[in-house]
Amino acid sequence: MEIVFADRLQKLPPYLFAKLEELTAKKRAEGADIIDFGIGDPDLPTPEPIIRAMQEAAVPQENHTYSSSAGEKYLRQAVADFYKKRFSVDVDPDKEVCVTIGSKEAIANICKAFVNAGEKVISPDPAYPVYANGAALLSDAEAVKVPLRVEDGFLLDVNECPTDAKMLYANYPNNPTGATCDVSYLKGVMEWCSDNGTIFCYDNAYSEMCFDDYMAPSALEAGRDVIEFGSLSKTFNMTGYRVGYAVGDETLVAGLKKVKSQIDSGVPKFIQKAAADALGLYEGKKLPKEISGNMAIYEDRRTVLVNGLRELGYDVPMPKATFYVWFDCGMDSMKFTEKMLEHGIVVTPGVGFGDAGEGFVRIALTQPRERIEEALERMRS
Ligand SMILES: Cc1ncc(COP(=O)(O)O)c(C=O)c1O
Repeated sequence: MEIVFADRLQKLPPYLFAKLEELTAKKRAEGADIIDFGIGDPDLPTPEPIIRAMQEAAVPQENHTYSSSAGEKYLRQAVADFYKKRFSVDVDPDKEVCVTIGSKEAIANICKAFVNAGEKVISPDPAYPVYANGAALLSDAEAVKVPLRVEDGFLLDVNECPTDAKMLYANYPNNPTGATCDVSYLKGVMEWCSDNGTIFCYDNAYSEMCFDDYMAPSALEAGRDVIEFGSLSKTFNMTGYRVGYAVGDETLVAGLKKVKSQIDSGVPKFIQKAAADALGLYEGKKLPKEISGNMAIYEDRRTVLVNGLRELGYDVPMPKATFYVWFDCGMDSMKFTEKMLEHGIVVTPGVGFGDAGEGFVRIALTQPRERIEEALERMRS
């Protein structure tokens, strides 16, 4: 029997990084010293108190059973407390919060809840590919890509968006550009969405990865017509734990819960306990001391890398948030990436995040300072 992928799978774009991964593996096999700035997976450890909380929670039998797919009350309450302390926003832990298996699944599943086949979903370009692929295309919807432009500070311009879309994704602090926004920008996007009957999905996965004096806002500070996705992955170096949250409009959260109840059985309870303890480290708006040390390390790496690239003649903005440095590499981004790989340096070509990312390159700050200096030295020579 010939087995054929469903049309929706066939519509997914080809995996652009396959060739690069193959080249990297070949280099590694040849014994090359590879400095990998590719994926956004923190190299720093999860803070000790969170690991301990998970270890302790792993023992009692009551934590070995199914969770509700919407998450245990203690974690939903911890998310609500975090929103109150960090953003001065009140949310109802029963109706306006859903625990998620990392934010990725929720970003994809929200589309299943509200978007019908053929309806339009707005995704920025460049962007985290899940909006257009995992969300829109796998829900049989039409992904409409709207370019982010350097001259607009990579802020999505709603005036360029179709007014008949069912859903819009926006993400600040932004992957891959490192761009940030303020509450008044979010108010504008929310108003535009409300006026056009478009559901506003705000991806705030990097809200806590801020540098200098910048503090990323929540879209809920702008109003309630939104569902916002957050994650413990980057904030607490917990990518592998798979835990996040969705917060916002009661109906939007209810739709997400309904989809999830038919697909997954929640985050393991011992992970939820650790996540509740992690969010409980916040005493106010400021980063808790358990993670501020890690952020200081990323900040130092960012400064070293950006200054080094500037010395090499590149025009590189100093990102105020995220652990990504995004810059115009002055040539075809895939060619630049291959050239870097010849010197054992792995970066991500901007075109992998969408056509509008062409000409740019993303470097993830997931290597120690010495390795960043080593990479700069290799580029210099
Ligand atoms: C913009 C953005 N949103 C969401 C995620 C998903 O993170 P997680 O599923 O680990 O919460 C990522 C991961 O890299 C991301 O870059």
